[in-house]
Amino acid sequence: MSDIREEQMEKERGEMRERARKLAGAMTLDEKIGMIHGAQLFRTKGVERLGIPPLTMSDGPMGIRQEFRSDSWKAIGLTDDYVTYLPCNSALAATWNRKLAREAGGVLGAEARGRGKDVILAPGINIKRSPLCGRNFEYFSEDPHLTGELAAAFVQGIQEWDVAACVKHFAVNNQETQRLWMEVKIDEQVLRELYLPAFYDALKKGGSYTVMGAYNKLYGEHCCHSDFLLNQILRKEWDYDGVVVSDWGGVHDTEAAANSQLDIEMSVTSNFDQYYMAEPLKKAVRAGRVKEEAIDEKIVRILMLMMRLHMLDGNRKPGCYNTEGHRQTALRTARESVVLLKNQKGRLPLSREHVRSVLVVGDNGNRIHSDGGGSGEVKALYEITPLMGIRKLLGGNVKVDYAEGYCKDWEKREDKETNWQETSLEHGGGFRHDSEENQKHSEETTHSAGTAGRREQLFLEALEMAPRYDQVIFVGGLNHDQDCEGNDRTDMKLPYGQDRLLSKLLDIRPDMTVVIMGGSPVEMGQWIEKADSLVWNWYSGMEGGTALAEVLYGVVNPSGKLPESFYKTHTDCSAHCLGDFGNEDETEYREGPLVGYRYLDTCHVEPEFCFGHGLSYTSFSYHGGKLVEEGGSTFFSCLVTNIGEREGAETVQVYVRPAAAADEEKPEVFQELRGFEKVFLKQGETQMIYIKLEGDLRGAKIAAGSSSRDIRIFLSAQV
Ligand code: BGC
Repeated sequence: MSDIREEQMEKERGEMRERARKLAGAMTLDEKIGMIHGAQLFRTKGVERLGIPPLTMSDGPMGIRQEFRSDSWKAIGLTDDYVTYLPCNSALAATWNRKLAREAGGVLGAEARGRGKDVILAPGINIKRSPLCGRNFEYFSEDPHLTGELAAAFVQGIQEWDVAACVKHFAVNNQETQRLWMEVKIDEQVLRELYLPAFYDALKKGGSYTVMGAYNKLYGEHCCHSDFLLNQILRKEWDYDGVVVSDWGGVHDTEAAANSQLDIEMSVTSNFDQYYMAEPLKKAVRAGRVKEEAIDEKIVRILMLMMRLHMLDGNRKPGCYNTEGHRQTALRTARESVVLLKNQKGRLPLSREHVRSVLVVGDNGNRIHSDGGGSGEVKALYEITPLMGIRKLLGGNVKVDYAEGYCKDWEKREDKETNWQETSLEHGGGFRHDSEENQKHSEETTHSAGTAGRREQLFLEALEMAPRYDQVIFVGGLNHDQDCEGNDRTDMKLPYGQDRLLSKLLDIRPDMTVVIMGGSPVEMGQWIEKADSLVWNWYSGMEGGTALAEVLYGVVNPSGKLPESFYKTHTDCSAHCLGDFGNEDETEYREGPLVGYRYLDTCHVEPEFCFGHGLSYTSFSYHGGKLVEEGGSTFFSCLVTNIGEREGAETVQVYVRPAAAADEEKPEVFQELRGFEKVFLKQGETQMIYIKLEGDLRGAKIAAGSSSRDIRIFLSAQV
């Protein structure tokens, strides 16, 4: 940014602050208190006599949540709060496409505004430290650079609509187990280098107007009123003047919260006046235990937020929801998020020419996912399942049949009468979902006495049907019983006996296409060798089934790349083999900076599929790699040519391999992603790409390629 522009912005910020101070000066203590805590589950109080409206918030990353009653977690049941359901943040990350991230953010912003919201509680950007974290589907990646780049674009897209993004959860909220009380033990340098940079990017580069504190504790303090995180880092080091909102129920002490840099306390119960920053705070001010100036600072920041959103000047964008354009963005995002993991014999794309019959097998083939997952649930206008997507694409002349193949366990969550959020903070707020225990439990209940029998019946039925069709497509994986807020998995195993089913089906039909869905990887060891064609599909929004079918049948050329390592098993992940995960009181991040591929590549552990991996139906060649100095910055540049038979997109990834320190045998981290660019190329087309490389490059090797383990160009930085 130019100096003049920066000066201008600083001046505007100063003027805004002055106006906010004056307004705050006219308010009573009661009025101020009303603005800094939830007066409803998703709303604070305004000050009518001064023309200050309340702040209205809503979840979440994949769409604007349905309307709840103001004081209970019961959905009102309206018919006009159906919305566009976007692919989850992991899917967005798999596109590696900043422009698309901005557009998807734009959909969320427009819909939030269209539904009358001021703050949208998204995006979730915690680093994926372990594949077992139940909320991974809401997060982008294991890599801070990829997360930061895409989250910043997403935030900008949201905020174009005069709606604030709320980047969450600050910070190190990497497990759900005992999420309210669990203390994270982490080296400060690792925290700063790995877990905070994406927040910096989303808040400072993306300019997010608000941020949400995490439930967990760090260095002995609850993150929602942590002096270290909120005061030292956020306000002092990052000079952040946006609003800090607590996670719902993340505040535990009146004075600590009031004196911290937290601005708004939200929670899950309806005793709004008893929130820590409500009546108890008023008493503390009157007793002289908290200075009123501490509250004034919060009010000034909230008013500045309202000014930024044009809430006070009547000059605000109206927004809109459920537009055709929004659905198109959801579709394009879904298309680019599908990852072709394996296509050994070139069986994909499937032919539409001579096919008469197709069998789709697997519960996920016909399951809707939008209504699950926790606070990220969406009341989608519609959701195209894979089965519907395939039928829609092939038309009526092809017989497309469906076999469930396996079924879910009977679970409490099927009871739609109780909202999980009401009870989600009991007993520390989260647990580990043990698939075997659950199974045992469910087999003991009357309902599920039949689960095992039913599963066997479905298994046999699928085996019996499979030989009879021209094509067989398996669509399985996880669902929101595993990928869910308040819940961590205990291993990466496929649930519901799918390994056995897959293995047997592949014996009968070695040509079967395997599609696995989920927000985190699963173990594939029992059948992967037998599967020639394997596709990964995330929770990919209302048009997910359309996009998947288009990729399977070659209408769309896949271009998704894994934004995280797909381990063979969870014990290959450093959080499990070096550090702790899922402990109830404290979790030590002993793996230090060796998270995800940083661990696998440094310690020579083979993943099932590596970070950045993703195939295409065409191929690309790289040439002419060089480093270019321009305006004090270093750029990696190279030519990429589409040498295959059809148009497609490639994401060039640039990894920096630091020089080994003179007294060390090898560098601490083998390589890290520092830049990427996605290019769209017609058959035979060549493009020159430039990728800016930030950070220290002294003595480093530059490795550029198609994935973290498919490096095409090596260079030495001469800097
Ligand atoms: C979640 C947040 C969410 C909030 C409001 C909490 O349980 O952790 O991500 O925004 O609820 O629904």
